[in-house]
Amino acid sequence: MSAPLNVVILAAGKGTRMKSDLPKVLHPLAGRPLLNHVLAAADILSPEKICVVYGHGGEALPKAIARDELAWAKQEPQLGTGHAVQQAVPYLNPDAICLILYGDVPLTRPETLQEMTLIAREGAIALLTVRLANPSGYGRIVRNARGQVERIVEHKDATPEELAIDEVNTGILCLPAGKLAGWLARLGNDNAQGEYYLTDVIGMAAAEGEQVIPCHPAAEWEVLGINSRQQLAELERMHQRNVAEALMVQGVTLIDPARLDVRGTLECGRDVLIDVNCVFEGAVALGDGVKIGANCVLKNVSLAAGVELQPFCHLDGAKVGADARIGPFSRLRPGTELAEETHIGNFVEIKNSQVGFNSKINHLSYVGDATVGCRVNIGAGTITCNYDGANKHRTVIEDDVFVGSDTQLVAPVTVGRGATLGAGTTLTRDAPARQLTLSRAKQITLPGWIRPVKKK
Ligand code: UD1
Ligand code: CA
Repeated sequence: MSAPLNVVILAAGKGTRMKSDLPKVLHPLAGRPLLNHVLAAADILSPEKICVVYGHGGEALPKAIARDELAWAKQEPQLGTGHAVQQAVPYLNPDAICLILYGDVPLTRPETLQEMTLIAREGAIALLTVRLANPSGYGRIVRNARGQVERIVEHKDATPEELAIDEVNTGILCLPAGKLAGWLARLGNDNAQGEYYLTDVIGMAAAEGEQVIPCHPAAEWEVLGINSRQQLAELERMHQRNVAEALMVQGVTLIDPARLDVRGTLECGRDVLIDVNCVFEGAVALGDGVKIGANCVLKNVSLAAGVELQPFCHLDGAKVGADARIGPFSRLRPGTELAEETHIGNFVEIKNSQVGFNSKINHLSYVGDATVGCRVNIGAGTITCNYDGANKHRTVIEDDVFVGSDTQLVAPVTVGRGATLGAGTTLTRDAPARQLTLSRAKQITLPGWIRPVKKK
């Protein structure tokens, strides 16, 4: 049996430079809090336990994350990264290996972390380091003559020679928890910042003859932390670029990979095409050959094969059947289910309704709480009056109905199979099948009427 894994996530820091009332690790990247990205990476490693060290921002953090199985260790005041990990020690299994992550470093790949856990399970210390063109501000990795890691020196404590080192500490490390607890207990704060540095653990371990093995990320974005809104925006773009890259590798056509935002999961079939400025939120699934026009927002939506979405559509909680044509400027709200080959046009809003095969709602309509059959044609300006001010009622429109323009269907009401409703009808009672039903004031013409003229 290999040792279990315990993960410690440091998230007590202040995040001063965000200039925000929201704790830094709750700021969203790709639609979810930074801390959730770190938790998701940790989850993939199947840890026995995850302990989050929090402090600044108080209980807002545990409350927002709301995961019962997490251990929360409060650090107050914040006396440094070593002091932070110390607060987690009582929650740790001394026989476990401990992986230390930062709550504000959201994009580390689980593969990189996995490699580190393998090293720690062999009894060594895995330290994630990276060479940076501008290492300023970071802790530097000091190696001995044989190239082995000897210690870490913080920027503010470094000599000019040490400042010239371009290999830096990312802060992420993995090591046996029992030994970690011993070293933490011996940390001092006699340094430039008067803090208990987690990094001093490396010097102690190396001095005791422990092996410190440096690991490296596959790309720099894996170890970038967020301290400001600028850095948050930059990392968001890098992340979206990675998502776009993966979609293209998979066979999706993106008209401009720089103008795509995925804030959730986007599953695509073969030969999907996505035009510019589209946003995908929650779980979105696009079938084979789906085309998404420019400037569409899709949230928790599934579009079957061959669906074509024209520009400027907003879809939320909708399910669309194969070969449907939607837009431009259509709005589908939660509970909308469109069957195959439906056509939904401009300025049409549909909510909590089923629309059957090959039915068309092409212009300026509101369809809410309705069941619409197959091959129905709903004319321009049709409205289901589903709300009486207190309750919602359903409208049923059976197969092959033709609804004339500017019709109001006052629910609850049913239009029978094959019925025709004349333009301008206000339907308050059920319309029988196959008949023409209309409500309309009789048209009159006044002979000899003269248009008034302005008095002189
Ligand atoms: C730390 C490292 C430095 C490394 C850098 C990488 C130390 C002493 N230094 O420096 O070697 O190059 O990260 O970004 O470890 N935190 C707490 N409680 C505290 C202090 C910090 O929870 O008392 C958390 C912060 O919220 C943050 C993380 O620890 O997530 C790192 O803290 P930060 O102040 O950014 O560390 P640096 O001084 O930048
Ligand atoms: Ca930092």
